[in-house]
Amino acid sequence: MKRLYIATFGCQMNEYDSIRIEELLSDNYKKVFEPKDADLIILNTCAIREKAEHKVYSLLGRFKHLKKKNPSLILAVGGCVAQQRGEEFFERFPYLDIVFGPHAIFKLPELIKTLEINRKHLCINNLEPHFVIPRARGQLWGIDSVRAYVTVMQGCDNFCTYCIVPYVRGREASRPPGDIIDEVRLLVASGIKEITLLGQNVNSYGKKEQGFPSFAQLLKEVSKIKGLKRLRFTTSHPKDLSPDLIECFSQIDNLCPHIHLPVQAGSNKVLRAMNRHYTREKYLELVSDLRSVCPDISLTTDLIVGFPGETQEDFEQTLSLLEEVKFDQIFAFKYSPRPGTKAAKMSNQVPELEKKKRLAKVLELQDKIGLQRLSRFVGKNIKVLVDGVSKSNPKQLCGRSPGNHVVNFVGTKDLIGKEIDIYIEHACQHSLKGRILDKKGTGGEFIQEVVNG
Ligand code: SAH
Ligand code: SF4
Ligand code: F3S
Repeated sequence: MKRLYIATFGCQMNEYDSIRIEELLSDNYKKVFEPKDADLIILNTCAIREKAEHKVYSLLGRFKHLKKKNPSLILAVGGCVAQQRGEEFFERFPYLDIVFGPHAIFKLPELIKTLEINRKHLCINNLEPHFVIPRARGQLWGIDSVRAYVTVMQGCDNFCTYCIVPYVRGREASRPPGDIIDEVRLLVASGIKEITLLGQNVNSYGKKEQGFPSFAQLLKEVSKIKGLKRLRFTTSHPKDLSPDLIECFSQIDNLCPHIHLPVQAGSNKVLRAMNRHYTREKYLELVSDLRSVCPDISLTTDLIVGFPGETQEDFEQTLSLLEEVKFDQIFAFKYSPRPGTKAAKMSNQVPELEKKKRLAKVLELQDKIGLQRLSRFVGKNIKVLVDGVSKSNPKQLCGRSPGNHVVNFVGTKDLIGKEIDIYIEHACQHSLKGRILDKKGTGGEFIQEVVNG
């Protein structure tokens, strides 16, 4: 067996793709965790912000010496930067062997073979969307055995003015529902307990294809698969969040009470300039609808500070929106101009220092709100799906609440993959601490009682 090192950047879509890559190569390659041990290095890249792109270049620079030491090493770049830059890569990194876009993953075994015969670099970044059919889980290495992603659609037609995704992932394309159901069945049969359906904008699922179900209908179908304990989905665009999908939160038992609903900004002027197609008021209405259907729903969001033309007043509207909604968690970013996007050409760019300040402000406010939100669980029992051993403390296990909050507690490895009741003792900044509930339900003793295995 040869050895594969793969590094993944960016969103869950890329994580999903990396697993497909591992599967496709699994007949000839086993996974290693150090680049220096590898015969094949793959970087699955992300172009969403400048920083993500630069990470790729600096890693490639560092791999030059590995290539010198071992000329038969194959160096490949995939993902969104590969799609965006294509052949340009070879000018800057002549020792690079393969550049392949996200739609060319299925070609990878063939590309590697060709390269082995004729050491001439290869680039494919001109293909239409292509869904790779997954293999049974048993053939994977070191993969999370509790939770898995399933892509339901690719690409994006929204063209938010700051965003590079439509340029690197192409137009929206949905997978046939039968393929999705088959994949979820396969995963559940191999022991997966929780599935997250993935897409850049899952609410547009099936809209372009004839005879496809709506996303709400698809969700209902998937939820019925026997043995599936938890179902999630991401991401939803607020402009397409349908009443039907909102209703799903009260209709589907195993659908987790959590929605990631990127708001991006609190000012209508900025939302318009971003081409988001909703207003602050519309967004707040959606939040209120979600909370009336599912009162304890956990809400998370993405937002951008320092979008071109964002004034101090506009920015303050983002702060006040955070106060108003009280998200469980936010992912906040400084606006980063991306080549080819409309916003990158706007003349009213916000200075870097100002963006930095605004980001710090947003994060400081959210730290307070997030802690407040987490505190609502203290003294209560919650059902936790146990993921594995905690990264920070090997004596602890970690898992997720239905609302997707991280929960740490002391326990033994046999609990991994089980859903157990945890009594929450403490809210930390970004996680909860608890203990396994004893038989009396008081949380008094460390008795490991599996409530719902
Ligand atoms: N499809 C998802 C988001 C994909 S990108 C959606 O539409 O909600 C994830 C997040 O990265 C976005 O929500 C946005 O907040 C952020 N982002 C995208 N482009 C960016 C840019 N140029 N600068 C800073 N943040 C950006
Ligand atoms: Fe980017 Fe907007 Fe599409 Fe999300 S909806 S991927 S932010 S263009
Ligand atoms: Fe990044 Fe591509 Fe995802 S740009 S966020 S990896 S779709």
